[in-house]
Amino acid sequence: MNFIDRERPIGIFDSGIGGLTVVKRLAATLPNENLIYFGDTARVPYGSKSNSTVIEYALQDAKFLTTKNVKAIVVACNTASSVAISVLKDKYEIPIIGMIEPGTEFALKTTRNKKIGIIGTRTTTDNKAYSKALKKADKNINVFEKACPLFVPLAEEGWTKHKATYKIAEEYLAELREQNIDTLILGCTHYPILAEVIQEVIGKNVKLIDSGIAAAELVRTEIERIGLLNNSNSLGNREFYVTDIPKKFKEIAELFLSSPVKEVRKVELEDILR
Ligand code: DGL
Repeated sequence: MNFIDRERPIGIFDSGIGGLTVVKRLAATLPNENLIYFGDTARVPYGSKSNSTVIEYALQDAKFLTTKNVKAIVVACNTASSVAISVLKDKYEIPIIGMIEPGTEFALKTTRNKKIGIIGTRTTTDNKAYSKALKKADKNINVFEKACPLFVPLAEEGWTKHKATYKIAEEYLAELREQNIDTLILGCTHYPILAEVIQEVIGKNVKLIDSGIAAAELVRTEIERIGLLNNSNSLGNREFYVTDIPKKFKEIAELFLSSPVKEVRKVELEDILR
């Protein structure tokens, strides 16, 4: 291993803009690392698709990132993490970091009354990825799961505080509000974009879990373990690739990363399918 190896980028993928919430956490935790983001905006949402389709897409997304010589891959999508993580880990030797494991640990450390709510896409909640992981760690945990599929298009649209977002959140979170949960896992990387609305509607006593925070720490641990932590003093590069119109993506990326995004490149789907 040499200096150049340490400078290899970390690859991050999601179905769309949601994974930017993870990029934000990674950039704060590991500012010197070079990051390459891939958003499969042509095929978003993943959360309403079958497990086999999501696995196929996740393999293609990861393959694209490996062509960029990444030293680790962050599956910044709970849907893909819930169905494809073991397939990806079997296929690649570099560290593959999903959202479920760090999010679960973070929630277990946070809860006091052991009542945890989970919101996510339909594929994530149908697969019960978080419930299984939480129960495996502590069988006395009570979980309450709810699919909130409309949150993804609202986040993609940038409707972070729109009245329609409040209305939909009221509808989705009503049942969870009755369960006396003290912790709510944002089990979709798009949801931290709507965190203000979600917090207001669920109540300020409920702690929101953004898996990206814990995932960023896990990325650090993993790349340190393989001796590839980038210890350069300069700020890392950020590159962004999407599979459909980059314009809206750029606007939203700048909003959420609170920094200018120089360029968003479009990748042709047929190139990643090859
Ligand atoms: N951001 C993704 C997740 O964390 C999925 C959104 C979607 O494509 O449905 O599940």
